[in-house]
Amino acid sequence: METRRTGEETIIRTEGVRYEYTRRDEEGNIEGTTIAVDGVDMTVRRGEFIAILGHNGSGKSTLAKHFNALLYPTEGVVWVTGCDTRDDARLWDIRAHAGMVFQNPDNQIIGQVVEEDVGFGPENLGVPTPEIWERVEESLRAVGMLEYRKASPNHLSGGQKQRVSIAGVIAMHPDCIILDEPTAMLDPVGRKDVIRAARALNDVERITIILITHYMEEVVYADRVFVMDRGRVEMSGTPREIFSQVTRLQSLRLTVPQATLMAHALREGGMPLPEGILTRQELVEELRRLMPHTSEGGD
Ligand SMILES: Nc1ncnc2c1ncn2[C@@H]1O[C@H](COP(=O)(O)OP(=O)(O)OP(=O)(O)O)[C@@H](O)[C@H]1O
Ligand SMILES: [Mg+2]
Repeated sequence: METRRTGEETIIRTEGVRYEYTRRDEEGNIEGTTIAVDGVDMTVRRGEFIAILGHNGSGKSTLAKHFNALLYPTEGVVWVTGCDTRDDARLWDIRAHAGMVFQNPDNQIIGQVVEEDVGFGPENLGVPTPEIWERVEESLRAVGMLEYRKASPNHLSGGQKQRVSIAGVIAMHPDCIILDEPTAMLDPVGRKDVIRAARALNDVERITIILITHYMEEVVYADRVFVMDRGRVEMSGTPREIFSQVTRLQSLRLTVPQATLMAHALREGGMPLPEGILTRQELVEELRRLMPHTSEGGD
């Protein structure tokens, strides 16, 4: 995971980004401000799979909205494929380069038929009709939803709807897809399918993925992880580097993958296990190494 090569080309860069929300009372008078993002410097390169973690209210969504010009920094600069997001003339370019998928699948689908919904993005970009159909087909195929192209979105499960939303973004041929807790409202099967689709886009199509999630198991696949707290990036590194720091993560009010937690507890209990075990399989292998005489049987 850590050794997978990604390009050197920068897709997103932020420098000193700070964002303040203004709170107003019922009459519209300013009551105060909330600093949601506080001095974030971040670089995302082409082809990376990035995960952003953080407790509720740590500023993840606010930061993510800067990546496709839904918000502009109060201070600092955001560049998407080299364009300053404040450049109004490039707004649609930027939105096409960096597409966003949100938490609630029901708020994102507007078409009455799946293929029509997926075609909206390229249509708005002025793509010629025959090419729109090609893009719709390739996008639905990429997320495993081609057989539903004529279906009504109302009849799909949450996970299927999210995959249609992702197809709608892919159809715009973006460099980067930002997924803001895309699995939060899904059942375990829907969650797996959505993450599998995102990983495939990253692996096969080399689309840069930025995944915001509360599910630690989804982070294991990332090339790099950023952990946010109170608007700041408090930790960054590979999943293994991040999950080696169980106590630090807990102090940032985050959990860690179950296998990591178990390994950490065993280590504290005196077993010579390495830090940063990420999966159940790795834990089993490490335990077998320590106890070579146990049977190969059930794990
Ligand atoms: N529209 C808004 N107006 C005022 N304050 C806001 C607004 N949206 C978010 N905030 C505040 O900004 C801070 C960061 O919120 P944000 O939604 O970016 O966090 P988050 O990490 O995405 O949280 P969650 O995990 O709950 O999605 C919080 O203190 C939040 O209350
Ligand atoms: Mg959020």
